[in-house]
Amino acid sequence: MPTPLPPDWTDRLALDRAHVWHPFTQMQVHEADPPVPVVGGEGCDLLLGNGERVLDGISSWWTCLHGHGHPRLVSALERQAARLDHVMFAGFTHEPALELVTRLRPKLPQNLTRAFFSDDGSTAVEVALKMAFQAQLQRGEQGRDRFGALRGGYHGDTLGAVGVGELENFMTGLFRPLLLACERFEVPEDPRRELAPDLSGWAAKLATARADLGAFFDQHGSRFAAFIAEPLLQCAGGMRMWPPELLQDLRRHCDRHGVYLILDEVATGFGRTGRFLACEHAGVAPDLLCLSKGLTGGTLPLSLTWATEEIYSHFWGEPASGRAFLHGHSYTANPTACAVACASLALFDEEPVLANAVAIGEAMTEAFTALAISPSVRQTRVLGSIGACRLVDPATGEAHAANLRFGWRLHRRALDHGLLVRPIGDCLYLMPPLNTPPARIQEAGETLLRLLSN
Ligand SMILES: Cc1ncc(COP(=O)(O)O)c(C=O)c1O
Repeated sequence: MPTPLPPDWTDRLALDRAHVWHPFTQMQVHEADPPVPVVGGEGCDLLLGNGERVLDGISSWWTCLHGHGHPRLVSALERQAARLDHVMFAGFTHEPALELVTRLRPKLPQNLTRAFFSDDGSTAVEVALKMAFQAQLQRGEQGRDRFGALRGGYHGDTLGAVGVGELENFMTGLFRPLLLACERFEVPEDPRRELAPDLSGWAAKLATARADLGAFFDQHGSRFAAFIAEPLLQCAGGMRMWPPELLQDLRRHCDRHGVYLILDEVATGFGRTGRFLACEHAGVAPDLLCLSKGLTGGTLPLSLTWATEEIYSHFWGEPASGRAFLHGHSYTANPTACAVACASLALFDEEPVLANAVAIGEAMTEAFTALAISPSVRQTRVLGSIGACRLVDPATGEAHAANLRFGWRLHRRALDHGLLVRPIGDCLYLMPPLNTPPARIQEAGETLLRLLSN
């Protein structure tokens, strides 16, 4: 039985029910299952209103890198807010933004020389799409008014980002009339990431996908301003891990067709895959790179779109030339968020953050190997610090019917057993903060196994 909430939460939840509209939520659900009060965060744990402690198994939507309330991040926030909380960034600059660029640039592909600040993952993507389109126009390429993207991708919820994400789902399909023109290519999942892979036929399947990608670019490449992809891991698409060979091919085809390659590392960046960026696994550098989520270690909203000097050059000119990139947000390069991002990056230099991600990956491999004995689980797989599997109905071996809301119920039950997980469709995954002790991963695996057996 869940621990009951203290009485003072009764009024607060009534207030929430009366006036708050939660994201990604059919609000009717909260009539029976109100939102869960969270009152604190400590390391890899969240502290719930009922006094229970749960492992933040999904890093609060993949943001929290070094654990909640890391003292270095908290003190950077306090110091900077007291000195300069905010100033507009058009016509002004400040030390935290400059320090952030200085700290981050050596960790990125060296062709990326120009940093454009915005507020969240979606805006980082919007900026990249607009920059690519405008750069193409201003280098004299007319008619590149379409984008390429991967089937099953997710790049955020603003309309531009929705336009290059997956459309064949309930979240985005209805916005179709409002969206960018986009052609999508489906990459196969990479069985080599699976813990019990069946590689028969894989070489042929990969060869076919590579040939199809070439044909796709031959058909559409001349119309593309840019191609956007989440490198190696489509997170919201259900932790689909795809082959590095296809990312290398994407780079080649983009070059061949004069198409900019946008890599969206909003979720995969900052060590999640065991390297600082996921694209490093394939040795591929993009023309535009989107970063957010882990940029501030999960403390404040901030994002960056990095561009090459070549792209930047197409915006250069006299004020009257009309070539400037006229885009910005009120909180662009917020100094407090930049200072926290600097503190987070300093931890990468001073603490074994990437080694921890690799150690978490080893613990994930053990946990998901153990989980694979459950008849409710298929296709266990690991990439860096992320473990995932498919949830099936053991009676049929197929995904549970959507109306059963199996994932939601598992999410709620796990909270009563000290674990925050939030399956995406039939994908159950763990992506905890990178300071999570490996023993906690093993515990989480055991909890899931118990829950799936009952
Ligand atoms: C790959 C990717 N891009 C963009 C976004 C959008 O980021 P935000 O929710 O901060 O707008 C997400 C969010 O999950 C994401 O996973």
